[in-house]
Amino acid sequence: MKMARTIAELQAARPSGEIGLVPTMGAYHAGHVALFEAARAENDAVVASLFVNPAQFAEGEDFALYPRDRERDSCIAAESGVDVLFAPDASELYPSGYQTWVDVEELSRPLEGAFRPGHFRAVATVCLKLFNLVRPARAYFGQKDAQQVAVVGRLVRDLHLPLELHVVPTVRDDDGLALSSRNVFLSADERERALALPRALAARDRSLLDGLDVDYFEEADLDGMHVLAAAVRVGSTRLIDNVPLEGDPR
Ligand code: PAJ
Repeated sequence: MKMARTIAELQAARPSGEIGLVPTMGAYHAGHVALFEAARAENDAVVASLFVNPAQFAEGEDFALYPRDRERDSCIAAESGVDVLFAPDASELYPSGYQTWVDVEELSRPLEGAFRPGHFRAVATVCLKLFNLVRPARAYFGQKDAQQVAVVGRLVRDLHLPLELHVVPTVRDDDGLALSSRNVFLSADERERALALPRALAARDRSLLDGLDVDYFEEADLDGMHVLAAAVRVGSTRLIDNVPLEGDPR
């Protein structure tokens, strides 16, 4: 696996053939590995990005605390068949004078958008930058972040981007908790309480979240993708999850 720290290094290392791109912020778990493996199976080469995008964290969110372990991540990526890991510094993607943003207006507003103003504008922008730099045939995203899938899918269609979006089902621990880089912040007791989230979604019963700090528990139509989506705070950790509705295979 080649490691590219700059755009110039990425261009030099860019594989030939059809590329599967997996955008990530690192702190890899089996959810990320499922995306790498799907990309590996369906493309000539796999490029993953590892970039904790500062723009998508609002003031007071966990940007500084977000788990970072580039050594461990590059081992996991290499073992999972990633050919090139693009891990730029923020100054590489947002040099001084940077001022261009892409806003997927309506889909960015509800659910996460209501609690994280500016979040999806920054996600859409960094994904568009990665699509332009890597020029993948296919890009891989997790159902875990259903609204992100909808926003990026709309971006791809609205701007006629020449790539396919592939959505990978949510990978869960044996007890049902969706894997997340943020789960490392949960104490044993908090982790036990967090299990109410997948249980409430599976049972479609908000009352199972009683006692937790609930941002939302809502059915939504995300550009034709029907989900029951929820966000809760357990201690200082914010968790999101969703289940597809109406026989949606995801
Ligand atoms: P990150 O949270 O690192 O997630 C990278 C990809 O892994 C996303 O597509 C996410 O949906 C997927 N993923 C996370 N947990 C998963 C799980 N349990 N099962 C399946 N897939 C899972 O999402 C981001 O990074 C960023 O917003 C990014 C798209 C990289 C833009 O900065």
